Amino acid sequence: MKNIKSYVNQHKDRFINELIELLKMPSVSADSAFNKDILNTADAVKIALEKAGCDTVEICKTPGNPIVYGEKIIDKKLPTILVYGHYDVQPADPIELWDSPPFEPIIKKTKIHPDGAIFARGACDDKGQMYMHVKALEYMITNKQLPCNVKFMIEGEEEIGSVSLAWFVERNQEKLANDIILISDTGMISNSQPSITTGLRGLSYVEVEVTGPNRDLHSGLYGGAVANPINILTKMIASLHDENNHITIPGFYDKVADLSSEERAEMAKAPFSLDAYKKALDIEEVYGEKGYTTNERNSIRPTLDVNGIWGGYTGEGAKTVIASKAHAKISMRLVPNQDWQEITELFKNHFEKIAPKSVKVKVTPHHGGQGYVTPIDTIGYKAASKAYQESFGVAPIPQRSGGSIPIVALFEKELKSKTILMGFGLDSDAIHSPNEHFGVFNYLKGIETIPLFYKYFTEMS
Ligand code: BES
Ligand code: MN
Ligand code: MN
Repeated sequence: MKNIKSYVNQHKDRFINELIELLKMPSVSADSAFNKDILNTADAVKIALEKAGCDTVEICKTPGNPIVYGEKIIDKKLPTILVYGHYDVQPADPIELWDSPPFEPIIKKTKIHPDGAIFARGACDDKGQMYMHVKALEYMITNKQLPCNVKFMIEGEEEIGSVSLAWFVERNQEKLANDIILISDTGMISNSQPSITTGLRGLSYVEVEVTGPNRDLHSGLYGGAVANPINILTKMIASLHDENNHITIPGFYDKVADLSSEERAEMAKAPFSLDAYKKALDIEEVYGEKGYTTNERNSIRPTLDVNGIWGGYTGEGAKTVIASKAHAKISMRLVPNQDWQEITELFKNHFEKIAPKSVKVKVTPHHGGQGYVTPIDTIGYKAASKAYQESFGVAPIPQRSGGSIPIVALFEKELKSKTILMGFGLDSDAIHSPNEHFGVFNYLKGIETIPLFYKYFTEMS
């Protein structure tokens, strides 16, 4: 596929400008103030797929945000690739920590991205990575290089748990029938060492509320005599890890699939510099579960983290008060074969049990999902590996990621097909953080690599 390189080179300015237009749309799914922008973004994705050459594109209504579905069927006897991505983005806040406005994309050079990177919310997660597939399709159709059938399913609720997508998939199994699902919504090791994501962690997300007295109290008149919900909550949270940073919830590790020492040795071969890792985050030391390396802690081991905690007086100055309530949002990243609903139940029971009688505790489950591991002895993996090898000139390494895309396990259950995670982002691209960006090199390399996957997957099928 010689001319994909020259096609990308010839059209790269337009490819970048089109992505910039898409990134200007603030499609934040978590905040209903952006509902109109969600709908506008779905329309923009529909138009982009039509222009790229899909035969039919529809905006599919759901109980929540719409799903954009498009397809190009060239021959029913040929394999079908289902591309999944998401057009929704994380909220931009804290907005004051951005060096440039989150929805006014600009290109800046960085140490890691000497060719420049596009800075905007959603640049990497996932508009930039999703749009690589649209441009790869444009190339294949325009140049009569599309070797198989393709279906696109781009959703608008990934960042809030894909509830409507689950609803849609359950109702459209025939429409979505495919031979492989292809997703670019993960990362790779570095621009000189590509990797293919072979695992995602599961997730259980809960909110807890601790209630003490029935109203806020003067901390002098009542202090010391009644339970302070914030003191109690922080103590309860602290007790969820022991001195080895092991999670203390009974039964939490029962189903964890441990890796063999061979598998761990294989994992340890991936290039990684602990010094560079610490430097990039400005930390003296890493921290985590005893007996595991940093790369193991953030991929093959489960975790429990407080994502937010609030209560009492946080305004300017001092107010002497014992708050009636304290709250926290807690996420647990899970690994095979932990079941997210079971873990949620274990958490709830344990958290209610460790609360002293002087407070009431409420645990509210949010969303969750199962983890996922992809085998590497499949034609899907082999085709992806060959594609990276050809476009990067380096063989990709399989690597399990710590992030979650809960819908992937549901795809396997409902559609009976495997997923290939061809991500082109880097951990340093600051997804979900201020100053999110996506390397121009990564964006263009992605567009270049995707048609190679189509070619090899079709050949091998
Ligand atoms: N694209 C990410 C997940 C990801 C990023 C996986 C990098 C692997 C490497 C996705 O958009 C995401 O943020 N998922 C959420 C879970 C979801 C249920 C809100 C996550 O992992 O926190
Ligand atoms: Mn994503
Ligand atoms: Mn995300």
